[in-house]
Amino acid sequence: MIFLHNQSNCKQLVSSSPRHVAIIMDGNGRWAKIRGKLHIFGHRAGVKAVRRAVNFAIAHHFDVLTLYAFSSENWSRSSQEVSALMKLFSRVLNNEIKYLRKYNVRLCIIGDINRFSIQLQNSIRRSEKLTRNNNGLILNIAANYGGRWDIVQGVKQLAMQIRSGVLNPDQIDEKILCRYISMSELAPVDLVIRTGGEHRISNFLLWQIAYAELFFTDVLWPDFNDAVFEGALDAFAHRERRFGGRLQV
Ligand code: IPE
Ligand code: IPE
Ligand code: MG
Repeated sequence: MIFLHNQSNCKQLVSSSPRHVAIIMDGNGRWAKIRGKLHIFGHRAGVKAVRRAVNFAIAHHFDVLTLYAFSSENWSRSSQEVSALMKLFSRVLNNEIKYLRKYNVRLCIIGDINRFSIQLQNSIRRSEKLTRNNNGLILNIAANYGGRWDIVQGVKQLAMQIRSGVLNPDQIDEKILCRYISMSELAPVDLVIRTGGEHRISNFLLWQIAYAELFFTDVLWPDFNDAVFEGALDAFAHRERRFGGRLQV
């Protein structure tokens, strides 16, 4: 553990283990293709990897694990793939609730859920409600999520505050806008992992990862396991996080 002095000369604690890890779970389609199967076969295999990642996060006492499950751009896939994904999401939500309650995990969905079927929206609300008093791991699932959407919905909320006279435009600063962006109440994202070999963010968290460490692996999401996760944590522990400041020697 080391200390950094930031702009306001406050000491900032920097730990060698992350409190908040976010994962872009990519590579399900290619995993299925290699096996001569349809995409959905890869998505189903991906659910097992999600379970492994959640177990790992619990065992390593992370505060928060945020998983990118469906982007606002993923609607552009074939209707068969999208509807199979929606069914899978519904099934997993209903099946995993017992497990989440047993392990004291609080489930939150981030993203614009209004585009989902009423049935799926109800399942989401029910699962969030059933786990809302759990105080162990916070598990965020990003569904119909886009980093740009997140910033826009935050700006809209600010605009409404201005319209109702509660806020003056001159008062707007990063701190105020930040309050309206998803996960502002949680520990900042320390580490973003992307599986599947692509080196991009694909409209996942934008605002929230300003100073996150990035880790890319070629491993396809269904093959993601504890050893790969350990590798990412090990890489993270060797990063020098400066946040624009200087390390104190
Ligand atoms: C990620 O896997 C899961 C979702 C986007 C829902 P992909 O389906 O994108 O897998 P690849 O990139 O085609 O291998
Ligand atoms: C990002 O993967 C979205 C999720 C993992 C949910 P994509 O497969 O959609 O991203 P691109 O198309 O390769 O950028
Ligand atoms: Mg992909």
